[in-house]
Order: sequence, then structure tokens, then C-alpha cells
Amino acid sequence: MTTTTERPTTTTAQSLTLTDLVKTYTARGRESFAAVKGINLDIAPGELVALLGPSGCGKTTTLRMIAGLETVTSGSIKIGDREVSQLPAAKRGIGVGFESYALYPPMSVRDNLLYGLKARKVKGAEQMVDSISTRLEMDELLGLRPAGLSSGQKQRVALARALVRNPPVLLLDEPLSHLDASARQRVRRELKVLQREFGYTTIVVTHDQVEALSLADRLAVMDAGVVQQFGTPDEVFDDPANLFVAQFVGEPAINVVEGVVRVADGRTRVEIGSRAGHLETSATSVPDGTRVKVGVRPQDCSLTESGEGVAVTVAYFEHLLEFGLATTTVSGMEDGLVVQTPATEEYQLEQTAVVTAPAERVYLFDAETGDRLR
Ligand SMILES: Nc1ncnc2c1ncn2[C@@H]1O[C@H](COP(=O)(O)OP(=O)(O)OP(=O)(O)O)[C@@H](O)[C@H]1O
Ligand SMILES: [Mg+2]
Repeated sequence: MTTTTERPTTTTAQSLTLTDLVKTYTARGRESFAAVKGINLDIAPGELVALLGPSGCGKTTTLRMIAGLETVTSGSIKIGDREVSQLPAAKRGIGVGFESYALYPPMSVRDNLLYGLKARKVKGAEQMVDSISTRLEMDELLGLRPAGLSSGQKQRVALARALVRNPPVLLLDEPLSHLDASARQRVRRELKVLQREFGYTTIVVTHDQVEALSLADRLAVMDAGVVQQFGTPDEVFDDPANLFVAQFVGEPAINVVEGVVRVADGRTRVEIGSRAGHLETSATSVPDGTRVKVGVRPQDCSLTESGEGVAVTVAYFEHLLEFGLATTTVSGMEDGLVVQTPATEEYQLEQTAVVTAPAERVYLFDAETGDRLR
């Protein structure tokens, strides 16, 4: 799939292709450790990909290999048609916005940003630095020395430095994590606008789902050194490849309960709890009697007074601003179901109700492997 056509890309926009990329750390006297276990990503020119995953899953290692800050154990990294995995960092044409990336302490922020541009005799360097600094809300930082900057300010400088180099490929490792909530939202918006304007092919690592969803054309969800799913935010959210992805993406978290598949009268249902009821599912390839894990998002569940579904008791009810959250218990089950309810509705504790969900939103997963069953 490519999404380049509707995007204004500059002539410098390049594809970025990772093929079977592996990083194994070996240290003397220690067991070798596979941090990245064969990653494949095909990123279109000008596309913005968010790399999402738990701490330690290999996100930074992946970026460092692409940037040339870490050697590649095996596999290939291509920018356009050019194999770069054996090139030194400086020859790859990649902008790196890593927080740890050194700024030169004796120079002002402005000179740090200009450094490199001037060496390459880039025309309009001063204007470029001024304009990007304004857009990242950091004009007041230009005269300062790096040593005195807060971590949020350092992050903005690192981001500006990556952007002013006008790289065909931009790698950002948690670029906004130290900014306060409101600055974060504004800088995020500006980053996206700049990325579109210049057409950089970009990978952003983030822990923040909202950030990933708002920035990314596609998400790469990683766990344990492996890309678990690569797709648009909608694909990842609505059609999770496995239990890990289903649980990692989505807020509030997806409900996961045990169930048994029952096939009868041409319908597939999954039985939940001890005679608490069942949910119909559009997964039709699973044989009758199979024990599975059932995933259903709180946003896809509804509470009704009666009808076909799972009988529950409301154990806890929270009013949030735009919706409510009912935490329910199911007879014979340790885990209950959380249901997102409309803001206008009110539920009493101990109230009984029935949880329903559309069949296509009731996901089944292999009880052992967590693979999606369709
Ligand atoms: N130089 C190294 N030597 C040995 N192991 C390393 C080295 N660098 C990273 N690792 C290990 O590789 C794994 C992946 O690390 P990495 O920094 O890529 O994770 P991450 O996804 O960026 O995590 P976080 O979200 O916490 O930044 C971790 O288990 C880490 O301990
Ligand atoms: Mg990291």
C-alpha cells in the first residue's frame, strides 16, 4: 500500500525499506541478546510512521541502526534504491532528533542550529533557522547556551536541529516526551505540518498513543524485537493482528476474557462465564468447543436492560467528561467487562444489565499463542 499520491512531497522524499533487520548485542562474558529480530518495514516517500511498543522492545535500537549509530547484525536498510546499512552515519542523509544527540556547549542554540548548514553553504540558512524556531515556539532559546536548557527545551532544539538539515529521512525518538501537555499538543501539530510541507520520510518513536494516532499515516506496533502489526491507525485499532496489539492499542484497554466457541444454526457465538451468556462473532473459522480468548473494546460494548448478550452486574460506574465507564462483573468469571456508556446515561451499583456488541467487533484469539482467529 502506498499513500504518496495525495501528499505534497518534495523531490527529496525517499522511501525507506528495512528488510530482515537484526540486531544482536554481544558482550564478552555475557550471553548475546537479540534486541531486534528481523524487522521488515516498507515506508513510502514522505510517509510518517509511528513506532509504538513497550519499553525495551527495540525501538531505539532500530532507529540507531537506521541512523548509522549502531552496527547492523544482518539485514538491509535502503533509502530509495541506495543500500545504506554499511555507510557511516554522515553519509546516509538522515536527520536525527535524539535527545541525547550532543549539542556543542560553547555555542549558542542559534549557532548550533546553523552549524553544518553554514559548513555546507546552504542558502537562506539564517531564515530557515528563524522560521523553524518560531514554529517550534523556541525563539527565546536561540541566544542561550545548551547547558542551561531544561529537558523540554533541549528536546525542541534537537527537533529543530534535525529539521533544519532538511533530510530526506527523519528519525525522532520520543521527540516531545518532556514537553508539558499544552506545548506538546502545539509542537506536535507543527511537527506534522512541517513534515507534510517538507515531505520528510519520518519515523517517530513514541510511548503516547494519542501522539501516535494524531501524527502517523501508519503505525508499526513492536514487541520483543518484532513488528507485530504495520498498518493505518484504523487497521490496527479495528483489525488487530494478535492479542498483544489488541491490548497495547486502545484507551480504555480492550476487554479480554475467556470463552468457548459454540457453532449452531449457521451462527458462531462465544460463551462467556458460567451461563452468563454469549456474544456473537463474525469469526467463523473456529470449530465448535474451542477455548479462546475473546477481545471486545469498551467502546464497542453497549449495556441494555435485557436481550441477547452477557448478563452482568455493575460494580463501579465513573462519569468522565464525554462518556461514562461501567465496570461490570460476570457470573463465574474473574474478569468482568468494561463498557463505555453515553455521557447522558447513569448506572447504579449492583444494577443488573446485559452487555451486547456487534459481531464484527468481537475478536477471537488463540488461547495459547494470542494469534487472531478469524
Ligand atoms: N548497547 C547495548 N548492549 C546490550 N543490550 C542493549 C544495548 N542497548 C540496548 N540493549 C537492550 O536491547 C533492548 C532494546 O533496547 P531499546 O533501547 O531499543 O528499547 P526501546 O524500545 O527503545 O525502549 P524504551 O521505550 O525504554 O526507550 C533492551 O532490552 C536493552 O536492554
Ligand atoms: Mg528507546
